[in-house]
Amino acid sequence: MKEKLEKILSEAKDAIANQADDISALDAVRVKYLGKKGELTALLRGMGALSPEERPVIGALANKVREEIDAFLTEKAEELKTKALSSKLAEEKIDVTIPGDDFEFGAHHPLSEVRREMTDIFVSMGFDVVDGPEVELDYYNFQALNIPENHPARDTQDTFYITDKILLRSQTSPVQVRTMEKQKPPIRIISPGAVYRSDTLDSTHSPVFHQFEGLVVDKGITMGALKDMLETFAKKMFGAETRLRFRPHHFPFTEPSAEVDVSCFVCGGKGCRLCKGEGWIEILGAGMVHPNVLRGCDIDPDVYSGFAFGMGIERIAMTRLGIDDIRLFYENDKRFLKQF
Ligand code: DAH
Repeated sequence: MKEKLEKILSEAKDAIANQADDISALDAVRVKYLGKKGELTALLRGMGALSPEERPVIGALANKVREEIDAFLTEKAEELKTKALSSKLAEEKIDVTIPGDDFEFGAHHPLSEVRREMTDIFVSMGFDVVDGPEVELDYYNFQALNIPENHPARDTQDTFYITDKILLRSQTSPVQVRTMEKQKPPIRIISPGAVYRSDTLDSTHSPVFHQFEGLVVDKGITMGALKDMLETFAKKMFGAETRLRFRPHHFPFTEPSAEVDVSCFVCGGKGCRLCKGEGWIEILGAGMVHPNVLRGCDIDPDVYSGFAFGMGIERIAMTRLGIDDIRLFYENDKRFLKQF
């Protein structure tokens, strides 16, 4: 029995030293030798067969063996814990002296940047920003804007029709009507957004581009107020020296209507490459809201008047940034975008 006990001790020591690579393996060793169904317990069950003299001797030896195995187990457990901690620390080690990875920062698209700048100027003058649907009813895009069924404007706008009555809006002007239907004067809104025309893509045309609509309706709104407000905008956008030129024009939804030019901010009006020698750059269409449009929205043109304007965001961005090809905005070549 003494030999058996010594054998258990040496086997257990060996197992602890060589088979227990982690805490759970070590636990299995503990169960195998010291557990209730373990080898030591099994051996001690045979103590009954010993003589009364032998019993205390073997009992003391068995206790010693148990204590010794236990001490080995505890020591090994400590060792494993330390090992686990140091390998975890090694894994998580951060070398703060390694140079950082190159990180590419994104930036706003030049069109978004210009739209935001324009928006900020009008917001500072008390305008609200409103949104309108890009898939629009013929009614809002044409009919309600005083552009009847057979009006030539419907051809010139080369519209993308979805059905007879539904289309991709060819201008942001329908937002005027949607706004006036919902809100009664005073109205002071801008509405930037995408518009669609079935143009072939070239250096100045794109089937999708962006407009910036404006509408003011109240009692006593005059053409003078329109001029004043556009001048304030142009000076903030293009520089304090900027002058405006109004040329008579025709839009079905305004009367009178005008096309508006700004003095070239590169040459100041003398003529240069940007303004193609003209000294002026056309930036928008505008006018006094046609009485038919007001009436269609249940606003009495004898009581209220209004002005409206619409400009192309690409056109303004191209002018501002000195770009002569609209396609650059949509190709998203990072070398181009990074310049702004
Ligand atoms: N919607 C016009 C266009 O696409 C631009 C325009 C002209 C808008 C005059 C207006 C306006 O609000 O009053 O060509």
